[in-house]
Amino acid sequence: MKIIVISDIHSNYAAFESAFETVKSINPDGIIFLGDYLTDFPYPQKTMELLYKCKSAYKCWFLRGNREDYLLQHRKNLNDGWVHSSSVGSFLYTYENLTEKDLDFFGSLPNCLEIKIDDMPIITACHGSPKSTTENILPNSSAQLKYAKKIKGNILLCGHTHHRKVVSVKDKQIIFCPSLGLPQDGEKYGHTWITLLTSFDNNWKTDFIDIEYDADTLIKDYRKSDLTEYAPIFSECIIKSLQAHGDIAYQCVVLAWEKAKKDNFKGGKILPEKYWIQAAKELKII
Ligand SMILES: [Fe+2]
Repeated sequence: MKIIVISDIHSNYAAFESAFETVKSINPDGIIFLGDYLTDFPYPQKTMELLYKCKSAYKCWFLRGNREDYLLQHRKNLNDGWVHSSSVGSFLYTYENLTEKDLDFFGSLPNCLEIKIDDMPIITACHGSPKSTTENILPNSSAQLKYAKKIKGNILLCGHTHHRKVVSVKDKQIIFCPSLGLPQDGEKYGHTWITLLTSFDNNWKTDFIDIEYDADTLIKDYRKSDLTEYAPIFSECIIKSLQAHGDIAYQCVVLAWEKAKKDNFKGGKILPEKYWIQAAKELKII
């Protein structure tokens, strides 16, 4: 029995297309998606089309991530301040490219699932933690212990951190599944990861599978997209993240906020673009 786990696509359709070819060659018994399907890369409809294709071709389990939560919250309150800016422009761009069907699909997804396949041990799957789409339990051993005790089976699948790691907690395993769109472990340029669970001795064995994709074309197409106008510096950060292997957007936003605070900025959540530009220049992103 083989189960594929795909997490944190973040609209990186090029990585998803390559991953889909690998999925077809493995011909798994099912695919578990851990959420954060969209935002960060352009053309979200390409990711949605491929998600629906997976859904019709394989048994799939879909979880909701924090990015889906943000999009669903915006649907309820369109006056929440999303504007063209590096702070939230990627969310606005993505939202405007979605259909009602896409949003209804996200709205139907759970944030935690207990998956029972034949007589295999139950797999608990979530985005951040079983309790919250935004909780990051990778560095927190007490949270890991708490959730390891609570789960019914012997493995807990988490996304959200973008890192790939297996942590043993007593007789349980917490598997931090890597991001397909923006993996964070110093990958070679144009490489990414999916997770494969294989049944073995009435247990699940975990492997991470390296996948190569065409990052050059992705970057070229990114630069042609409207996303670069919606979130100018943020877009450069995401492109740089592919080239320089790190969470460049996070580094840039932290520095941009430091600069704004020094300036006594008190304008709310949307950081003026000038701070993004100053931070991006200092970090040599632009
Ligand atoms: Fe996330």
